[in-house]
Amino acid sequence: MEKIVINGNIPLNGVIEVSGTKNAALAVIFANLLVEDICVIENLPVISDVTVSLEILQAMGLKIRMLNKNTIEIDSRNAAGGTSPLELVRKMRASYYLLGAELGRFRKAYVGCPGGCDIGLRPIDRHIKGFEALGAKVTIEGGYIEATAPKGLKAGNIYFDDNTVGGTINVILAAVKTKGMTVIENAAREPHVVDLVNFLNTCGARITGAGTDTIKVRGVEKLHGCTYAIIPDMIEAGTYMIAAAATCGCLKITNVIPKHLEAISAKLEEMGVEVEEYDDYMIVSRKNKLVKTNVKTLPYPGFPTDLQPQMCILLCLANGVSYLTETIFESRFKYVDELKRMGASIKVDGRTAIIEGGAPLSAAHVRAHDLRSGVAMVIAGMTIKGRTEIEEIHHIERGYDNIVGKLCGVGADMKKIYIPDALSYEMVN
Ligand code: EPZ
Repeated sequence: MEKIVINGNIPLNGVIEVSGTKNAALAVIFANLLVEDICVIENLPVISDVTVSLEILQAMGLKIRMLNKNTIEIDSRNAAGGTSPLELVRKMRASYYLLGAELGRFRKAYVGCPGGCDIGLRPIDRHIKGFEALGAKVTIEGGYIEATAPKGLKAGNIYFDDNTVGGTINVILAAVKTKGMTVIENAAREPHVVDLVNFLNTCGARITGAGTDTIKVRGVEKLHGCTYAIIPDMIEAGTYMIAAAATCGCLKITNVIPKHLEAISAKLEEMGVEVEEYDDYMIVSRKNKLVKTNVKTLPYPGFPTDLQPQMCILLCLANGVSYLTETIFESRFKYVDELKRMGASIKVDGRTAIIEGGAPLSAAHVRAHDLRSGVAMVIAGMTIKGRTEIEEIHHIERGYDNIVGKLCGVGADMKKIYIPDALSYEMVN
């Protein structure tokens, strides 16, 4: 086990580069199962979720070669369906993409129930509804999901009652090689859905409408290999924008798509933070007191749920009462107790956190409850004078590429410390 130790109260200043987006990278990696050829994927973030997804594919017979730390070659010509190791599948949420990909390639999928951040129940009924609309039979038994379509899938119309990123991607994966035209209504519009579609289209798929709420998938017989670069991670970028504001710093954040960050820029500007947008970088700085505001998470292009905990830190620093409402995941405020250890004054009422900002936070020993709230603790620690220690940082490393190195590069004083197992057992329990 490792922990992050931070000596805070230092403004972040300098240039910080954003890596490829986790959630697009994972969808693209699993989509390779459908390609049955060789692909080169560039701009992959170096994070444990990518490592685990590659290990899963390797265990299924795909050949993976690292060309450099951000580029891999995946040869998916030989693969066996239904062979993904449960212990790896359970380490991450995105392993649910095996369902759509295996169904699309082998006409059957047999996958362990996925893991991922503990932020709500996270059922997959909408994915299942989508597979069933394509003619698959789906059962869940003994911790495994089985989806079968012995005579092949058939194109269909799917209307999602509620937004689902994973469900939208899974149906696209199942439909891409299914004869006829599948129409997905009320589809998710997130940039990583668009990125996955761009990857598949580069491989010869015929998908239109990604980025709108109607996606049309015209089935093709075959896909072919390609070279494809993953888009920059809007959540990592947003995290650094918030960190610059929280520490009263000035960051030039490079390798970004400013259009993806509009909801975040707008909220930061409302709070008195300066945001300058350029073609592929942003400059975020703060000189003045933060102004309280209210934030509600929404599907893209609304304010992203994956920046909700980070935003909570900023609201803690703004004088007055702010309301932070989470509409996507029902249990994404579990980290609030950790913040209370730092002196934050927050009351959670159902899906809204009522934050009484302005009270000084103090250094404490806290733990990363999940990926995004873990990084929120890092931001909090950077604003506080004294030594903050964050345990269970494996959650953070699932989704942030070299976070300690990147933040130290712009002036943060933090390091990772190894805790021997026996000791960590004592500390965690
Ligand atoms: C994806 O999760 C991301 N994960 C999440 O990233 C992100 O927070 C989320 O989309 C929203 O943007 C990956 O891409 C791997 P959903 P996903 O299906 O696909 C409910 C991060 O920190 N729902 O859009 O699981 C669900 O419980 C994370 O990087 C059902 O009820 O999100 C949630 O309340 C965590 N039934 C809401 O819908 C279903 O079948 C949205 O879920 C599917 C979802």
